[in-house]
Amino acid sequence: MLNIILMGPPGAGKGTQAVTIADEFGIPHISTGDMFREAMANKTELGLKAKAIVESGGLVPDDLTIELVKERLSRPDCANGYLLDGFPRTIPQAEALAKIGPEIDRAVNLVVNFDCPSDVLVSRIAGRRVCPKCGASYHIVNMKPKVEGVCDRCGGDLIQRKDDNADSFKVRLDNYYKQTQPLLDYYQGSGLLHSFDGTTNPKLLHDQVADLLKAHR
Ligand code: AP5
Repeated sequence: MLNIILMGPPGAGKGTQAVTIADEFGIPHISTGDMFREAMANKTELGLKAKAIVESGGLVPDDLTIELVKERLSRPDCANGYLLDGFPRTIPQAEALAKIGPEIDRAVNLVVNFDCPSDVLVSRIAGRRVCPKCGASYHIVNMKPKVEGVCDRCGGDLIQRKDDNADSFKVRLDNYYKQTQPLLDYYQGSGLLHSFDGTTNPKLLHDQVADLLKAHR
């Protein structure tokens, strides 16, 4: 069973790897960022609460985020594994997951982390384009789509995320170092953590992660 968390700073490549890993291993890709953006686009109650926070680069309150993930992990498609991208991001979120997982027989058994220096993150975020339909990520220089502005996977129109600007990114990176990076020690202590060099070529990185997952399947 593969109950996986993907970790790393904003722009480290979590979303990029999540899409191909989820495809290859047939497990759902659960991105809290995508869930918030979908709620914002649909103007749901959650979306209206999250909009200003997400667009400025802040973190959505733990109680809202934990409830969202708890409901999502309880769905039948997570019975044979899942890939969490962007959750947990704070110690209270990790503690909640450590409680919820075993309760629903879906405890986390692998944490995959991508290390990436800040200067690389800045240029990745500045050039990123995303597909709001399927969640695929591209870059205007490093990872161009076959046809400019069009998603290779689903044909959706590519856009720039509202929080991919210098001010919001600074807040996101600060939050990462203060609130999320400490989780690496938390998971190192439980023996679940595996770190990779996030600057590796994306295809090669996929193969490295896939080898780890095959060994744990
Ligand atoms: P979220 O959507 O999770 O954003 P993030 O963590 O900031 O991560 P990113 O999506 O920016 O980066 P990524 O690591 O996925 O990089 P990507 O693969 O796209 O969260 C957004 C917001 O939602 C948060 O700020 C917060 O407000 C809220 N939120 C979400 N979860 C929350 C939680 N748990 N609690 C509270 N609030 C929460 O790659 C980046 C770029 O690099 C792309 O252009 C890509 O093409 C390129 N690239 C990727 N890999 C490579 C590579 N190996 N080599 C070269 N280029 C690469």
